Amino acid sequence: MNISTQTQETVAFLKSKTKLNPETGIILGTGLGGLVNEIEVETAIPYSDIPHFPVSTVQGHSGKLLIGMLGGKAVAAMQGRFHFYEGYDMKQVTYPVRVMKAFGISTLLLSNAAGGMNPDFRIGEIMFINDHINLFPTNPLIGKNDENLGPRFPDMSEPYDKSLLKNALEIAKKHSIRVKQGVYAGLSGPCYETPAEYRYLRIIGADAVGMSTVPEVIVARHSGMKCFAVSIITDLGIDGKIVEVSHEEVQKVAAESEPLMTLIIRELLGSL
Ligand code: HPA
Repeated sequence: MNISTQTQETVAFLKSKTKLNPETGIILGTGLGGLVNEIEVETAIPYSDIPHFPVSTVQGHSGKLLIGMLGGKAVAAMQGRFHFYEGYDMKQVTYPVRVMKAFGISTLLLSNAAGGMNPDFRIGEIMFINDHINLFPTNPLIGKNDENLGPRFPDMSEPYDKSLLKNALEIAKKHSIRVKQGVYAGLSGPCYETPAEYRYLRIIGADAVGMSTVPEVIVARHSGMKCFAVSIITDLGIDGKIVEVSHEEVQKVAAESEPLMTLIIRELLGSL
């Protein structure tokens, strides 16, 4: 079965579960699931109930699709995403984005926890992603291209929508929330980086590094969706500041910065 047919079946199932027609999709990262508490949930569907959906396994992800209202807008939010390091292939990792598009979603908001290489960054800070570097060993668009989904050679000149970024910067300023902007390097994990790898990532132009977001944004852009993404800097990959990193620490720091990120995303939704 091809992806178009699968997504149609998934969307038919979702439509049988909700009357809402969300135009915004949300994919939440490690330790950042609290945004869902702000959603007036109409329907919560465990991934395991959704036809053709992979099932999330990683600690800190509860694996549900929530459809409801946030900031006055109908949204579909993934509570937990699929990571390449879990063993899913790129088509599985990005399947929910294909589904969102087929469901009528045109804007995708994403969050993640990331390590910071930019010496100006501090732990717990919010970084708006303004560009990315794909360092995954593969690309979700490899293989036969379905022209109904998007072009063979998609443009990547504006992966993160400039007007969403501008709105988000204004919202942060209005609330006196200190935010940074930068380039996110996405790689497979699951190891955190060695000091030499952090140094290398900084040299090639990255400000932050993590194990997600890039595949989803590639597929979202392929299908013509607008993207806005936020990283919470949970640890530093800066010479002299590198200490042991653990998943628990990453979750803890992300959870502490979460309320500010939630505020920004909620107001950004209101501005759409
Ligand atoms: N590297 C990769 N992924 C991460 C990191 C990191 O330092 N921190 C949180 N996610």
